[in-house]
Amino acid sequence: MAEITTVASQNTSNVSFDFAGQTVIVTGGGRGIGLELGRFFHEADATVYLVDADADALAEAVAEVGCRSAVADVSDTASVQAVVEKAISETGRIDVLVNNAGVLRDRVLWKLTDDDYEQVMAVHAGGTFRFTRACVPHFRERGYGRVINVTSYTGLRGNPGQANYAMAKAGIIGFTKTAAKELARFGVTVNAISPNAETRMIASIPEDKKAELASQIPIGRFADPSEMAVAVAFLASADAGYITGTVLPVDGGISI
Ligand SMILES: NC(=O)c1ccc[n+]([C@@H]2O[C@H](COP(=O)([O-])OP(=O)(O)OC[C@H]3O[C@@H](n4cnc5c(N)ncnc54)[C@H](O)[C@@H]3O)[C@@H](O)[C@H]2O)c1
Repeated sequence: MAEITTVASQNTSNVSFDFAGQTVIVTGGGRGIGLELGRFFHEADATVYLVDADADALAEAVAEVGCRSAVADVSDTASVQAVVEKAISETGRIDVLVNNAGVLRDRVLWKLTDDDYEQVMAVHAGGTFRFTRACVPHFRERGYGRVINVTSYTGLRGNPGQANYAMAKAGIIGFTKTAAKELARFGVTVNAISPNAETRMIASIPEDKKAELASQIPIGRFADPSEMAVAVAFLASADAGYITGTVLPVDGGISI
């Protein structure tokens, strides 16, 4: 069972989640938010499959967390299908899918190449679509499933230099709501989080821009990636079965 301790002012609260017996797939699990989500679900006794296209990062992540893994490109249909089949054949089930894999190819709109556009769409929108589609037959058969997609502030509000990324992340919101409507009658919920955490993605932002961004966060700082876990775990829990089609910002208030 994984326990999260949060300290806000002088109040301390403990939240526990138990995913014993459940199988959880987290894409983009080689580092950053995905790695921390994998660690959390593993500590909550789930069988976790971290999925990443970067084999070296994935090997390090798996050595650290002690969970299962699959090297796969989320934008490739056959690879995605193979991961879903592997998880089902090894564990007999998939309960939770977290579509988290992501890349950035930031440039102002007039400098974006076809490749910058296609790569970002293929990983974010394409990966979310492909993995969810591959899990649906299994979810329908079992009458249960939890999908958590990872969108962004940029998809909600826009951000200069990220037209491709904004388009993909806004697309994920439309996809989340549509899949939620289609899958509700099969016991499957589909939600999204909009994170804001200090990972490689944030590290790649120039210092002056990063300081400017931090000053716009009401809570006054970027989160540690592990702080995303409580929101994902909540949406992934069986108890959250009446919540679907939502986008939950876990962003220190930046999207207000
Ligand atoms: N960090 C933030 O503040 C922030 C804010 C908004 C949204 N997000 C979103 O959160 C998610 C995780 O971001 P992060 O900050 O942890 O990024 P990260 O770069 O640290 O990790 C992303 C992981 O995805 C993997 N990946 C990339 N392309 C892939 C592919 N085709 N197939 C499989 N794996 C692939 C990478 O190898 C990497 O390990 C992304 O979807 C990102 O857009 C992050």
